[in-house]
Amino acid sequence: SFSLDTILNEFPDSQSGDFRTPAYQLEGLDGDPVTRFSYQGYEIHKGKEKLAGLPYVRVFDDSQAESLIIHLKDSVRQLELDLTYTIYDDQPIITRSAKLLNLGQEPVYIKKLMSYNLDFLDGDWEVVTLYGSHINEKNLNRRPIQSDLIKIGSTRGTSSPQSSPFIGLVKADTTENSGEAYGFTLMYSGSFEGSIEKSQYGTLRTQLGIQSKNFKWLLEPEEVFQAPEVILTYSDKGLNKLSQGFHRLFVNQVMNPQFAKKERPILINSWEGHYFDIDEDNLYELAVESHKLGFELFVIDDGWFKKRNSDRSSLGDWVFDDKKFPSGFEKFAARIRALNLKLGIWFEPEMVSPDSELYRHHPNWVIKSWRYEPILSRNQLVLDLTNPNVREYLVDSISNVIEEGEVSYVKWDMNRHLTDLYSVNLGAAQQGELSHRYVLGLYDILERLTQRFPNVIFENCSSGGGRFDAGMLYYMPQTWTSDNTDAIARLQIQNGTSLLFPQVAMGNHVSDIPNHQLGRLTPLETRFNVACAGNLGYELDLVRLSDEEKAAIKSQITFYKKYRKTFQFGKFYRLSSANDNIISWQIVSQDGNQVILIVVQKMASNVYKVPIIHLQGLDEEAFYQNRETKEAFCGDELMYSGLTIPRMKGDYISKVYVFEKLKEE
Ligand code: GLA
Repeated sequence: SFSLDTILNEFPDSQSGDFRTPAYQLEGLDGDPVTRFSYQGYEIHKGKEKLAGLPYVRVFDDSQAESLIIHLKDSVRQLELDLTYTIYDDQPIITRSAKLLNLGQEPVYIKKLMSYNLDFLDGDWEVVTLYGSHINEKNLNRRPIQSDLIKIGSTRGTSSPQSSPFIGLVKADTTENSGEAYGFTLMYSGSFEGSIEKSQYGTLRTQLGIQSKNFKWLLEPEEVFQAPEVILTYSDKGLNKLSQGFHRLFVNQVMNPQFAKKERPILINSWEGHYFDIDEDNLYELAVESHKLGFELFVIDDGWFKKRNSDRSSLGDWVFDDKKFPSGFEKFAARIRALNLKLGIWFEPEMVSPDSELYRHHPNWVIKSWRYEPILSRNQLVLDLTNPNVREYLVDSISNVIEEGEVSYVKWDMNRHLTDLYSVNLGAAQQGELSHRYVLGLYDILERLTQRFPNVIFENCSSGGGRFDAGMLYYMPQTWTSDNTDAIARLQIQNGTSLLFPQVAMGNHVSDIPNHQLGRLTPLETRFNVACAGNLGYELDLVRLSDEEKAAIKSQITFYKKYRKTFQFGKFYRLSSANDNIISWQIVSQDGNQVILIVVQKMASNVYKVPIIHLQGLDEEAFYQNRETKEAFCGDELMYSGLTIPRMKGDYISKVYVFEKLKEE
């Protein structure tokens, strides 16, 4: 009566009679796919091993974590499979990964190796995943699972805006604040796959790992293949608690500790204000205005390098355009710094324009088949990061710019996906490794640059949040959440992003109206009120604004600075669902003394329902005073009776409430 097909399996094989989704698939050079791994033994030790060449949850001292390694062995092929599990002090987190070692005489192909497999006896769950597109990232998709195989993934070479390497499981009655929830996310930034499968007897299987489509890795004798790490977490109190667990882990143990807990500077970015039309005069004028309004970081976006007047040329030629900067970058940078502004700069390092010096000199440095003209997207090609010379060139050219301008911030963009998966740098048997090797190459560059410039903040961007994943977060402590800067569209995007990522990791900018993506007109106040639920920036031509608008921005910046610690590092609660007409978010400072409530009404309605908002996570006995009206409310009242919001008239209007906890007399 024993069948592998019906039991819960820890790491299911593909050829041994478990016909559900396998956790790995190997193949000998003769095409033989059969493997037989069996249990060999285990070790348990304090702390955790680093994952070579990959991001991972950091452990700063061995007492913070404990690891279990289960050794499996295929003694015919002499392959060893190590499954690692790490638990973390005081956190509902398990990280897992898998590693394959070839101790035999013959090479073997890895066609699939997931980072984890998890079978549940109780298959009665709903599934939550994140989907989207450019300017529409991280929508929540929650649905019941029948006898289905649900697959998510990306084959784009990046984790992508279309899908996120995340799987959530919730009970039908789980809400933001109650009920059970599991969350699994992969620390990986390339093509990935995930599956949720309900089997014939109602058990559930979930997996996440490197995308197996287009993947085939040749593992030679004595070589080791390490699958990326996956983070597994659980909440007994709904999705808010699940998110808070991720947020805490990301700040404490994933982000570069150099920046993780530091308040981030308020930036002005040149893109939507000037696009490619920048030069030292208009930028300086913008910098002077920024300085007056209280900005801290001045970011020159695309358009600063040699002949880059549109998106048709010059990616790869990372030297300042002397027509736009006749006095030289060094001098210009010094003038910006003299205004007491830190300087930031945009790069799109992984790309090259066919019309560039770099491509003319190194036509073989791109990912393309030698047979065909490669596909262009946004007029550009992708550099072959598997080639060490390419990586060397990028580290050197980026370092030169950072050093020349004493740059404090780099926006690292990536604006197209991978096609033409062939590399002249790899042998015939290794072409199936390209997509993963690309990511390893990227991590190598990021590791070297972040080590070399420990004081530079790197901001991750891929046409906005197109590669917003836990892997990138390890190298870059903040991400440009979306190219969509419309405050109302942002409500959904930030809401979904907050499922995984803390506010400090989310770059949010106030931009101009009519909004450049959607053409919508929203009040400046609402644009700020939405952006302040994260890492604040502005992206518009400040110089052109009226005195009134400038004064409003100045006071927004002063307000944000005052509560910055709470905005960026406070505990975040979603109090509404993304589709509601009134969206409310609550942020409670680490010490519990400040409570910020952000309320945004999408559309005015003639069927008016008094909005009553139930706050979360307060001290029942304590009093909280509204900073503006001085009214005081008891914590239990705010949580259980709720706060009645005065009628909001108009579309796209909003309000930020600040409550301070009153000290006991
Ligand atoms: C991408 C980014 C934008 C901007 C442009 C510049 O679209 O997401 O923020 O930097 O590139 O070309």
